[in-house]
Amino acid sequence: MPGESEAKEKKNFQPGVPQVKTDAFFLRGSGGLDWGMKSRLARIFSPKSGRTVMLAFDHGYLYGPTTGLERMDLSIVPLIPYIDVLMCTRGALRSVIPADTRKPVVLRVSAGATILKEMSHECVAVDIDDAVRLDAAAMAAQVYIGGEYEHDTIRNLSELINAGNRCGIATLGVTAVGREMARDARYLGLATRVIAELGAHFVKTYYCPEGFEDVVAGCPVPIVIAGGKKMPEIDCLTMCYNAVDQGARGVDMGRNIFCADAPIAMARAVAAVVHENLKPDKAFKMYEELKGEMKGRKKKG
Ligand code: R5P
Repeated sequence: MPGESEAKEKKNFQPGVPQVKTDAFFLRGSGGLDWGMKSRLARIFSPKSGRTVMLAFDHGYLYGPTTGLERMDLSIVPLIPYIDVLMCTRGALRSVIPADTRKPVVLRVSAGATILKEMSHECVAVDIDDAVRLDAAAMAAQVYIGGEYEHDTIRNLSELINAGNRCGIATLGVTAVGREMARDARYLGLATRVIAELGAHFVKTYYCPEGFEDVVAGCPVPIVIAGGKKMPEIDCLTMCYNAVDQGARGVDMGRNIFCADAPIAMARAVAAVVHENLKPDKAFKMYEELKGEMKGRKKKG
């Protein structure tokens, strides 16, 4: 009898204790999102540091087998344990990334042009069903503010946000800067703000030495920085330090990690800067020491 068994059970409703609040969320501008979206964002950004180290290796969709990505199975797979997020195309994911890596994926879904043509002429190349199948935590699209096909890239991003919102998958808006455009605070402030206003859940942009704090302040959702062309390791670590110090929530970095002299050492040094605020000189020392250790091990082996 239901009544009998209920009488034997000792219930513990604690009516006088208010329910523990779960509505506060650690990411800027994300408090009003639904549970699934927040959960995915909390896989991308560490709830402890509030930051992320995303490894970008989506370059092939524009550049083909560019330096450092000729063999992604050899250059990218060994880096996976040392980074937080994989940012890549579905082709790279399915062909070379083991599915048991347990790292969240930010899927590059815009495409349609190569370096041989006008790069802003993109479309959405992956449908939401495939993003779901691939367990994407977020989808990423380039937005060319001021570019020839600005309107189309804004439409691409908006369509993705609509589809992603239906499924609880976040969208990363990428500020793609045309060849002739200045990467200054005025331009980056405009581009990041437009992307956030369209509804992107986080924005990738470039670091600019002057006025980056204003770019961050004017963008109501988290910003991560791209690395750009390969530079000396100390310069890259300094840029990462300055960016997070001025409000960036991490990096979405490719060439400066996978083209470094010692890519694993670089990934670890970047992570120490991003998550632990390690100063650039110390991070560079860490990089050099790890590089030395790895070279020593290789010689012995
Ligand atoms: C370019 O093809 C992609 O948007 C890259 O993900 C982006 O440029 C970040 O990579 P990197 O740090 O090499 O600039």
